[in-house]
Parts: sequence; structure tokens; C-alpha cells
Amino acid sequence: MPYRAMRESLNAVIDSLSDGMLVTDTQGKIILYNRKAETFLSMQGETALGQPFQNHIRNEVLVKLITKILTLDLPNRSEEVCLIDLGDERLRVHVNPVRNENGLLIGSVTLLHDVARLNAIDKIRSSFLSMVSHQLKSPLSSTLLQTSLILDGIVGEVNEKQRDLLQKVRTKIKGMVNLIHDILDVCFIEEGGYLAQLENLDLAEILQRTVELMQPQTQDKNIALNVTIEDRLPSITGNKSSVEAMFINLISNAIKYTPSGGRVGAVMSENANNVQIEVSDTGIGLEEEDIPRIFDKFYRVRSETTRNISGTGLGLSIVKSVVDAHYGAINVESKVGEGTTFTVLLPTGAGNLSQAADKRGR
Ligand SMILES: Nc1ncnc2c1ncn2[C@@H]1O[C@H](COP(=O)(O)OP(=O)(O)OP(=O)(O)O)[C@@H](O)[C@H]1O
Ligand SMILES: [Mg+2]
Repeated sequence: MPYRAMRESLNAVIDSLSDGMLVTDTQGKIILYNRKAETFLSMQGETALGQPFQNHIRNEVLVKLITKILTLDLPNRSEEVCLIDLGDERLRVHVNPVRNENGLLIGSVTLLHDVARLNAIDKIRSSFLSMVSHQLKSPLSSTLLQTSLILDGIVGEVNEKQRDLLQKVRTKIKGMVNLIHDILDVCFIEEGGYLAQLENLDLAEILQRTVELMQPQTQDKNIALNVTIEDRLPSITGNKSSVEAMFINLISNAIKYTPSGGRVGAVMSENANNVQIEVSDTGIGLEEEDIPRIFDKFYRVRSETTRNISGTGLGLSIVKSVVDAHYGAINVESKVGEGTTFTVLLPTGAGNLSQAADKRGR
């Protein structure tokens, strides 16, 4: 088929898609887009081909995501996903890097999918989940407390057999309380709670406090937890409780997946216009094929080594949502049997999130 005819049929195919599609090169110049993208993004003028995408996309969140994919070229990151509101439409956006066969970045591809109807169903499901979790939280927490009172012998002598059973009960309830906390964190983030409460965050202080909280866990396992924080770090605008949840999940994973006697480190430093947080461990590590899946909800690696380690598989999905909510990036490097390093980049500068919050508030 001659080139021109091929190009015309390709255009016809992408124009018939019900999703919007926009492709740029590494310079951010638009090299392909379809009718649906034109409608969703209200692209005006004769043609946008060959022009910088920023000239045609007015939504700041989307501009930031495409910029992030084109500038922060992290090898493990395959896509950015977020929800944006454009007029009456709510779109789920996927931005992926495009790589050639040598793995070199040659551009970006953005897909826009209208989710207004799905969103209404999602909202009902999410508020139901959140309501049930809240209702379960108090009775479970008080059952945990009461079990501890009995175990501590405060309400009378406990014999060996009773102690053994009660300890098992306590471990199970602790697991349920953790699950409820995870679900509430997920609901909070998915309902956009982070955007409702933004403040200037002193990340160094939050990290210090998290590490103090973790001391009992490190002592139980005889793990050395080393923290290094660079002086005079810039602050970032963000949501405090979600950033705390992110640190807790990364550090507790590092402790959980490192055998006794190992080392865990947290290093916070400035990197270009970001605060960088590196959480590393000398633990069991991850197989290459598991890495792209560990951020999925409920995904847990199943192996002989992880069999006796409990968890729900929600921790890293919370971490990823928090990183995305702050327009950051996360990268994982790992070697089986040697250890794992999670690197988070959170962009500094106050503007980003406040603008997104303003838009949602309207
Ligand atoms: N530091 C790490 N080293 C090795 N494997 C890890 C590490 N962190 C996470 N993983 C793997 O990724 C999976 C997902 O982690 P995630 O934190 O989401 O869930 P979890 O720890 O199993 O449960 P929880 O919801 O209680 O955090 C884990 O089950 C584990 O297999
Ligand atoms: Mg975890």
C-alpha cells in the first residue's frame, strides 16, 4: 500500500476510536492525534501537528503528566494514570512513554477515556466501603484492647493454654485492624481527600517521626535502621497524613521483608526540583517480573520466603496513589537475596496542588 494511503487508513482507524489519543515526540511536539482527543481537549485551529502540546492542552494536570513522562525518564516506570475534569466530562488519562527497540525514549502517548458514568458507580462503592470500614474500626480496636488487658493479667490470672489462644486471637485482630486502616487510607485518597487538606510539609520532620514509630518493629527483628537527612531541604505542598502513610508503608515493608540482623536505610536529599526519599533494605528482594505488579491493589508476591509474612497487598498501592497525588515519581531497584531500594521523587514548589484543589472545589 502506498505511504499516503496507509497514512489515510491509519487516520481513519484512530479517528474511529471511542477514546482520545495524542502522541508527541521527545521534544513535546504533537505528531499524531484523533478526533476524540480534539473534542475532549477542545483543540482549536487548523491542525496541532508539529506544535508543542502545551499550546493545545489547557488542563494543567495533563500538561504536568506528559512533561513528567518526557523529562523524568525512569526505566521501570511504564505509565502515569489520573482522573481529570474537563467541563462536564471526567476523563481517565493514561500517559505512557514510547520507546524504540533499544529501550530509548522516543515520545509519549496519551489515552483519554470518558469515565463519567463509571465514576458515579465507583463513588457509591467507595462510600459504602468507607462506611463499613468506619463501623468495624471501633469495635475491632476495643476488642484488641480488651484482649491485651486479659493477656497482661489485669483482670485475673491467665494460664498457659489461655495465653496461647489469646495471643493467636490478638494477632488475628491486629491483622484486621491493619486491613481496615489500609482500606480507609485507600478510600481517603480515592475520594480526593488529599486535595481537601493541603499544607506546607516539612518532610524531614515527618520522616523522623515515622522512624521513631518504627523503632519497636526494628528492635523486635534486630534490624539496624539508619536515617540520613540533608540539611535545609525545601518544603513541599501536600497532604500530611497521606505522606505519613507513604513513609510508614515503605519503611514497614523494608523491615517486614528483611530477615533478622539486616539493615534498613532512609535517605532524604534534594534532587533537581524534587525532594528525593530513598528507602533501602538488605532483604529478600524482588524478582524482575514482580516489580511492575507490586503497586497493584492486593498484589502480593507468593513464594516460600513470603509464605509466613502477613499482609493485604494494599500498602504499595497507597504509596503509589500518594506519589501520584503529589505529581511525584517512584522507582524500584531490587536483587533477589540482596535487597531492594524504593526511590520517591516529590516535586517542590507550591503551585501545583493548590491549583488542582481549586479546580476540584469549583
Ligand atoms: N522492601 C521489599 N522487599 C521485598 N519485597 C517487597 C518489599 N516491599 C514490598 N514487597 C513485595 O510487594 C508486595 C506488595 O507490597 P504491599 O506493601 O503492597 O503489600 P503487603 O506488604 O503484602 O501488605 P500491606 O497491605 O500490609 O502493606 C509484598 O507482598 C511483597 O511481596
Ligand atoms: Mg506492605
